[in-house]
Amino acid sequence: MKVSVIGVGHVGLITAACMADLGHDVIGMDDDRSKIETLASGEVPFYEEGLAALTTKVVGEGRLRFSTDAAEAVADADVVFICVGTPSRDDGSPNLSYVQAAAASVATHATSSVVVAEKSTVPVRTGERIRHALALQTQSRGGGIVHDVVSNPEFLREGTAVEDTLRPDRVVVGADSARAHEVMRRIYEPLLARHACPYVATDVRTAELIKHASNAFLATKISFINSVARICELAGADVQTVADAMGHDARIGRAFLNAGLGYGGSCFPKDVKAFIHIAAELGYDFGMLRETDRVNREAIQWPIRQLRRLVWNLADKEIAILGVAFKPGTDDVRDAPALEVIDALRAEGARLRVHDPVALEQIRGRYADVELVEKAEDALRGAHAVVVCTEWDEYRAIKPERLAELLTYPVVVDARNLWDPQELADHGLTVASVGRPQIEIPGA
Ligand code: UDX
Repeated sequence: MKVSVIGVGHVGLITAACMADLGHDVIGMDDDRSKIETLASGEVPFYEEGLAALTTKVVGEGRLRFSTDAAEAVADADVVFICVGTPSRDDGSPNLSYVQAAAASVATHATSSVVVAEKSTVPVRTGERIRHALALQTQSRGGGIVHDVVSNPEFLREGTAVEDTLRPDRVVVGADSARAHEVMRRIYEPLLARHACPYVATDVRTAELIKHASNAFLATKISFINSVARICELAGADVQTVADAMGHDARIGRAFLNAGLGYGGSCFPKDVKAFIHIAAELGYDFGMLRETDRVNREAIQWPIRQLRRLVWNLADKEIAILGVAFKPGTDDVRDAPALEVIDALRAEGARLRVHDPVALEQIRGRYADVELVEKAEDALRGAHAVVVCTEWDEYRAIKPERLAELLTYPVVVDARNLWDPQELADHGLTVASVGRPQIEIPGA
C-alpha cells in the first residue's frame, strides 16, 4: 500500500522504515530540509539500535524515500501517518499546532480519500478535531473528498524501538468507519503474518485513551516503587528485594519497578502532565497522576539530599556525574533527570565533571562551568563524590577498589542502584543507594 509519514523524527522515521520493511511503498516527509537532506544522503540523524541498517536496506530496495514536498508525499497515499511533535506547553497541555498543520497539508494535497492515522500521542478527542479541520479545509477547496481519521498509537521504547514496532505486544487501531478499519487491517496484515499479537480494533477515542493510560500507568508504577524506596530508607529495608518479591506475583510483574532517579525522556514526563490536563478539561481531577508527577520530581532531588548529608557544603566540591542520557542505550537527554541533578548542583556551586558513553555531544556547549570528560575515570579522579545518574553497563564494570582509589572522599551516591552497596562498603566507600539501608563507614 502507499504510505506517507509526516514528520520523520524518532517515531516517524521508525514508522516509515518499519512500514517499508513490511512491504509498503513509503515516503517520509518533513518540513525540516536539513533533516531530509541528511536522510537522503543515507544517514540517520539520531542513534537508535538497528534503525540505520533497516533504513539503508529499505531505501536500497526502493521502498522508502524522503521529501520536503507535502504535495508529493500526500497525493496518492492510502494512509498518512501523522508523527509530528506534540511538545508540552507551560500548563502541561500538549501543543497540537503541528498536528493541525499536518492535517491541513493532507486536506490541501490529497487527490482522493485517505486514512489519516494519528501516531503522535494526542489527547482523547483529537481525532474529532482533525476530522473537523480536514472537512473545513476540504470544503474550502470545493469539497467532495471525505477523509477518515484513525488513532494508531505507538508503544515503542527508545533503544528497542525497531523491535517494539515490528514485534509489538499489541497493535491498537481506533477508527470510526468500516472502510478505515479495513485499510488499517491491510496495513498491518504483513506484520501480523510475521508476528502474531493481539490486534485491538476499537473506536478513535478509546484508542487515544489507551496510549495515555498505558504510559501514565507505567510512570505511576515507577513513582510507586520510588515512594516505597523512601519508606525502605526510613525503615532500613531493601527496595530491590521488595520489588523482586512483588514482581513474582503475575498480577504485578517485575517490569518498571526499578526505584531510582525517576522517569525522564520524551514521553513519560510529558504524557503524565498531558493526561492530568486532559482529565481536568473533561471535568475529572486525576489526583493520582499529580502525585505520580510530584513523586518523580522528588526522586530527582534524592541525590542532592544525599550529597548534602554525606558531603555537607557542596560549594567548590568536585562531583563526578556518571550518565546523562535519560536511560541506557540511547543518547537522548530530553527531560533527562541527570540534567536536573546537574542544574541543582551548579546552583550550589559544585564543580562538576560529567561523563556519558554516548550522550555528551547532546550537552556540549550547554554549560560553560561543567567539564565534559571522555572517560569515566577522568570524572572520578579526585572527586569528592560520585553520582550515578544512568545505569550504563560500563559503569557496572568499574571495580570498587578502583573507585576507592580514584575518589578523594569515598562517597558514592548510586541513584540507579547499579552497584552492590555492601561490596562498596567492604572497600571503604560510604554509599547511598536508593531504597536500601544506608551504609556509612564509621569515622569516614
Ligand atoms: C516509554 C514507553 O515505555 C513507551 O511504551 C512509549 O511509547 C514511549 O515512552 P521510553 O521513553 O523510550 O519509552 O523509555 P522507558 O524505557 O519506558 O523508560 C522511561 C523512563 O523511566 C527512563 O528514564 C527510565 O530510566 C525510567 N524507568 C524505567 C525507571 O526509573 N524505572 C523503571 O523500572 C523503568
